[in-house]
Amino acid sequence: MAVWYALADLFLSRLDAETAHGLAITALKSGLSPRDRTPDPVSLAVKVWGRTLPNPIGLAAGFDKNAEVPDAALGMGFGLVEIGSVTPRPQPGNPRPRLFRLPQDRGVINRMGFPGEGQDVALSRLKPRSRRGFVGVNVGANKDSVDRTADYVTGCTAFAPYADYLVCNVSSPNTPGLRNLQGRVELADLLKRVQDAIVAKPVPLIVKIAPDASDDDLDDIVAVCRDLRMDGIIIGNTTLSRPASLVSARRGESGGLSGAPLTTLSTDVLRKTAQRVEGQFPLVGCGGVGSGADAYAKIRAGASLVQLYSALVFEGPPVVRRIKDELATLIARDGFSSVSQAIGADV
Ligand SMILES: Cc1cc2nc3c(=O)[nH]c(=O)nc-3n(C[C@H](O)[C@H](O)[C@H](O)COP(=O)(O)O)c2cc1C
Repeated sequence: MAVWYALADLFLSRLDAETAHGLAITALKSGLSPRDRTPDPVSLAVKVWGRTLPNPIGLAAGFDKNAEVPDAALGMGFGLVEIGSVTPRPQPGNPRPRLFRLPQDRGVINRMGFPGEGQDVALSRLKPRSRRGFVGVNVGANKDSVDRTADYVTGCTAFAPYADYLVCNVSSPNTPGLRNLQGRVELADLLKRVQDAIVAKPVPLIVKIAPDASDDDLDDIVAVCRDLRMDGIIIGNTTLSRPASLVSARRGESGGLSGAPLTTLSTDVLRKTAQRVEGQFPLVGCGGVGSGADAYAKIRAGASLVQLYSALVFEGPPVVRRIKDELATLIARDGFSSVSQAIGADV
């Protein structure tokens, strides 16, 4: 598997990043990608929203925007997979190029702008699949929508019967104005409308926020989520900030930054969120996870689940096994018998 992947990696890393991503999806669709067949250590099992997952490492939104490969992605060894963001109607997204590797920084900048085939196509792929594994659907809004909140209601209503959890993504920096939905009044209105719409098909409903949220923003977001008894928050999306330490040629591109340069910021904001949530619902830590130590830091900062995307760009599917093994070692080192015992240890 290592040799197979090293060759594929050599080839893919020379291609434009979005072309390489398209080939990775094609390989997964045709069953060509390596599978992780080693059972997960029992210490990694985690219970969340009434379900027990084999491990807490998830694939973040953006990799499988159109629900083409949820089962193949689970086969890479992820404990959960999030498809989307899906918008109600198909849309092209921003002009290419819009996805850039920052190799020296182990970072990625993207300004995709929710390109996708739209809700009906994603639904047609999810409906016939047998419900194995834990697959969430991340919902977004069309760029030209006149009522963006209505787009979240439409998406969540449509996907509720076919998703193990739903995410309202109000934090993409690449759809102008979308992040305004994180404001106290706007967010409360949006989430309440979605909750009301899916009341007949209760499925965990969570919201994905930006790592650029200020302390005041976090006060508001958490107050709304606690008031509405939401099921969780993902912290977080890509950042508009640019650490001075970036050295890669593409560091000046506009868009959201992810990968290693985002690790500390997103874990700090996760910890601040956990302090405000006080265990009322689970948190998902996302941003710059590239090692078991990164995942463990997020768990200790309050995450029940962890997600990644950019690390896959640089290391491919073997990164999932490596992170799980490293995480199991760290848990055992600190005397925990289960990952659940470490959740929030640093909060
Ligand atoms: C190319 C690309 C596309 C993304 N698309 C989405 C998206 O459609 N919806 C979303 O909620 N997050 C999206 N994200 C953000 C990721 O889900 C994740 O929050 C972010 O990249 C931080 O994690 P990472 O550092 O492990 O990549 C995207 C990220 C990348 C790199």
